[in-house]
Amino acid sequence: MQTTSPTRADQLKASNLFAFPEKIGDYFVFSLRVGLLLCFLASISLAIFSAFSPNSHWLSIPSRTQAQPEFRTSGHERTNISHILFGIGASIATWRERSRSTNLWWDPKSTRGFVWLDAKPDNQTSNISGSIPCRVSEDWTRFKYSSSQSAVRIARIVYESFKLRVPNVRWFVMGDDDTVFFTHNLVSVLARYDHNQLYYIGGNSESVEQDVMHAYEMAFGGGGFAISYPLAARLVERMDGCLERYYNFYGSDQRVWGCVSEMGVPLTRLRGFHQVRYFCRD
Ligand SMILES: *[C@@H]1O[C@H](CO)[C@@H](O)[C@H](O)[C@H]1NC(C)=O
Ligand SMILES: *[C@@H]1O[C@H](CO)[C@@H](O)[C@H](O)[C@H]1NC(C)=O
Ligand SMILES: *[C@@H]1O[C@H](CO)[C@@H](O)[C@H](O)[C@H]1NC(C)=O
Repeated sequence: MQTTSPTRADQLKASNLFAFPEKIGDYFVFSLRVGLLLCFLASISLAIFSAFSPNSHWLSIPSRTQAQPEFRTSGHERTNISHILFGIGASIATWRERSRSTNLWWDPKSTRGFVWLDAKPDNQTSNISGSIPCRVSEDWTRFKYSSSQSAVRIARIVYESFKLRVPNVRWFVMGDDDTVFFTHNLVSVLARYDHNQLYYIGGNSESVEQDVMHAYEMAFGGGGFAISYPLAARLVERMDGCLERYYNFYGSDQRVWGCVSEMGVPLTRLRGFHQVRYFCRD
């Protein structure tokens, strides 16, 4: 009778049969470890590369304040200083004093625009040669207001500037009488944006208190803001209605913001437009 106990050869065979899958398991674990190590090394080097490479955008969070890629003008020339019409809000009471700020940047040979006053200035104040020409705001006293009537007038400067139909204007840039523009920088920034689109460009206040009181997404007038031609055209249609609706707003910049927001045009925030409040004690 044959024994059922396995021979040595059979045992060897069996052990071989078992050893084979065991080896596969070893290879599998080994290659898994190598793979994990490679992944680990790759992610460390990616992190190091991203941290030290200035051009890497892999780990950067997209931001609305990031400059647009240069706008390629097709069919028209690059935006230059002559394509901007400045509108400066001022009053005869303070203009003589404040015009010093405007004279810092106003270049009679290249800049175009007007300072808008609340009444006809005397001969000494008006149209000083080499200085920004004056205009008197019209038709602004008929609007309701709650705190400041001059806010209505200044909000309407974009309307009145547009109505002058100055040729070849791409951007309306609004500012206060103490706003200082670095026109060269302003031009190079605006040239990045397509002036045929609806753009409302500016910056909020550096004062958190002001931002909370008004809005973070509002361009503050003190830092100046820019409105593209087509947006100005739409604003002109709505402006008087907006002034009626937002009569209880405090400032002029807030009224413009209200009107622009109604149209669903967001603020394009640029850090170059600064609003700073200085508080002096004497
Ligand atoms: C600005 O561009 C216009 C064309 O749109 C051109 O006629 C004008 O000479 C340019 N002005 C300056 C100062 O470069
Ligand atoms: C202001 O200048 C105009 C001429 O430009 C002159 O007719 C007018 O009398 C002057 N007014 C005053 C108050 O000097
Ligand atoms: C100043 O000059 C401009 C033309 O450059 C003219 O339109 C405006 O009426 C003048 N303003 C005053 C107050 O004389």
